[in-house]
Amino acid sequence: MNRNLALNLARVTEAAALSAGKFQGKGDKNGADKAAVDAMRRMFDAIEIDGVVVIGEGEIDEAPMLYIGEHIGSDSKGYDKVDISVDPIDGTTSIAEGKSNAIAVLAVSPRGTMLNAPDVYMEKIACGPRAKGCINLDDSVSDNVKRVAEALGKNVSEVTVAVLDRPRHDNIIKEIRDLGARIKKVSDGDILTAIEACFEESGVDMIIGIGGAPEGVIAAAALKCLGGDFQGRLHPTDEAQRERCKALHSDIKKIYYIDDLVKGNEVIFSATGVTTGEILDGVKYYEGDIATTESLVLRLPSGTIRRIKSTHKLLQKPDYAK
Ligand code: FBP
Repeated sequence: MNRNLALNLARVTEAAALSAGKFQGKGDKNGADKAAVDAMRRMFDAIEIDGVVVIGEGEIDEAPMLYIGEHIGSDSKGYDKVDISVDPIDGTTSIAEGKSNAIAVLAVSPRGTMLNAPDVYMEKIACGPRAKGCINLDDSVSDNVKRVAEALGKNVSEVTVAVLDRPRHDNIIKEIRDLGARIKKVSDGDILTAIEACFEESGVDMIIGIGGAPEGVIAAAALKCLGGDFQGRLHPTDEAQRERCKALHSDIKKIYYIDDLVKGNEVIFSATGVTTGEILDGVKYYEGDIATTESLVLRLPSGTIRRIKSTHKLLQKPDYAK
């Protein structure tokens, strides 16, 4: 894939974040999501790409834009043929409530390399590069935490496990507490939380728990670029969801390793903060119709971790006015 695609993909997540930014704390999660979807779709039109959405806003009858299977760009100009996974906003509730960690995010890889995951839950476990190879979804939470502690040269009591704050995780949280490790409860946004495990300054060492499967694939793309580790197992909760898994030929017993979720050696990932989190600033507004954004842009072939801080003159970008 053309390496310059990375900068253009950052423009796509910046556009989505800028559009959703004005919804911070306004109690309107659907408004934020719609604004981000519209902006992302518009910006994709300006990119030299021949893409197919494999993870998006839903099936064609559920979503007018960025639906699964939607073709983006041109297939007649010799552009890179790619899979596109998008989550115009991960953390819509966080935006509506003015809480942290909401991002606009996407990942792109060569055609046929990203898992077309059904929109069901997924059991997930992830860690940073130093503990790569030490996690296994088949093992107990305690065994995983102990192995990660050992790999990081920490006592178990010094390990921080991030877990989505949901009643379904009560048992996991109890097991981690009984073991004496630390918990960071996260209200929403498990893509960025998984990425945090690769950044020491975040304080997060690993994540465990159940979240969305599409978010799992996007997180795996980022962790692959960062040298971290990720495993997921689909977790449908009713018959309709099991049918959906079957329709996509997904195996609900299988552990999907990071290289099953995103195959090959070429991935580009971009995330722009909407609300401020541990490792990414959110959209901020200043006097004179100025807004700033921060994006994390990753390319697997080079391993480069780029942080792009942009200043936007909103008068020159009327689509994103406050
Ligand atoms: P949305 O932005 O689509 O609401 O997703 C936020 C999120 O927290 C994801 O990061 C996570 O994978 C999923 O929701 C968890 O689902 P649930 O809120 O049903 O527990």
